[in-house]
Amino acid sequence: MTTILMCRPTHFDVSYQINPWMDPSAGAKAEIAVAEWQKLYEKYLELGYDIELIDQVEGLPDMVYAANGGFTLDGKAYGAKFAFPERVDEGPAYMDWFDAHGFEVFEPKYVNEGEGDMLMAGETILAGWGLRSTIESHDELRRIFDREVLSLRLVDPRFYHLDTALTVLEGAEGQDGPNVAFLREAFDEPSLKLLDQRFPDAIHASAADAEVLGLNMFGTGGDLVVSDRLTDLDRQLEDAGYRTHAVGLPELLKGGGSIKCCTLLLRR
Ligand code: ARG
Repeated sequence: MTTILMCRPTHFDVSYQINPWMDPSAGAKAEIAVAEWQKLYEKYLELGYDIELIDQVEGLPDMVYAANGGFTLDGKAYGAKFAFPERVDEGPAYMDWFDAHGFEVFEPKYVNEGEGDMLMAGETILAGWGLRSTIESHDELRRIFDREVLSLRLVDPRFYHLDTALTVLEGAEGQDGPNVAFLREAFDEPSLKLLDQRFPDAIHASAADAEVLGLNMFGTGGDLVVSDRLTDLDRQLEDAGYRTHAVGLPELLKGGGSIKCCTLLLRR
C-alpha cells in the first residue's frame, strides 16, 4: 500500500522569491491552486493511494510542497530544517504532524529540505546537496536510517531540489532494480560519474522537459503521474514500460514546484 501526505493549498501564494521560478508579481491564486491540486489528489485516489492530509498554516504559502516537510522510513521521521527563513516554520509544523501520526521524530541539526532532496532507490537513499540541503545532513540521514546514502551535488539554481532534477523509476514490468531519469546539466561531474556507474540505463531528460519541472513526477508500480507539458519524456517513460497519467499544475508551478513536490511518502 502506498501512503502519502499532502497539503491542500488553501493559503497558497507566491509572495517572496526563493527560487528562479517564483515571481511575486505573477499574481498566484489560492483558489486556482486548490482546484488543480484537487485533480492531482483525485488521480492519486484513482491509483489506489492512501492519502493523509496536513492543514496548511496561514502565512506559510509553500507548505503545499509537502515533499519538503521531512523524510520518513521505518516508522521514523527526519525533520526538515529549511534553508530560507520564509519556510523555517514549516519544519516544526510537519514534525508535530509526524509525532501525532505515529512516527518517531528526529529533530534535524543540519539544513535539509526533506524528501525534496532525498529519494529512495531500492535500499539506497539518493540525496541532493549544494543548493538547499547540506552535505552534513547526509551523515544525519545515515545515522538515523542506517542505509547507504549516495550524495549528489546540484549545481543549477533552477533545479534546486533533487526531485526537480531526477526521478527514481521503479516497478515497470521486466525492469530489474531501480532506474532513474535525470537532467545531466543539473549535477556536477563527480555526481554524474556516480549516476552513470549506478544507473547505466538511465533515461536522460531534455532541458525542455526539465524546464517544465517534468522530472518532478510521482508514481509506484509502473504508474507515473506526470506533467501535461512533457514533450519527449512521456514517450521515453512509456518506452521503458511505464504507464503515464498527465496532470497540469500551472498555478503551483508559479511557486517552482510540481507533482512530486506536493507528495511526501509515509513509510511506516
Ligand atoms: N517555493 C518552494 C521553494 O522554493 C518550492 C518547493 C518545491 N518542492 C520540491 N520538493 N521541489 O522552496
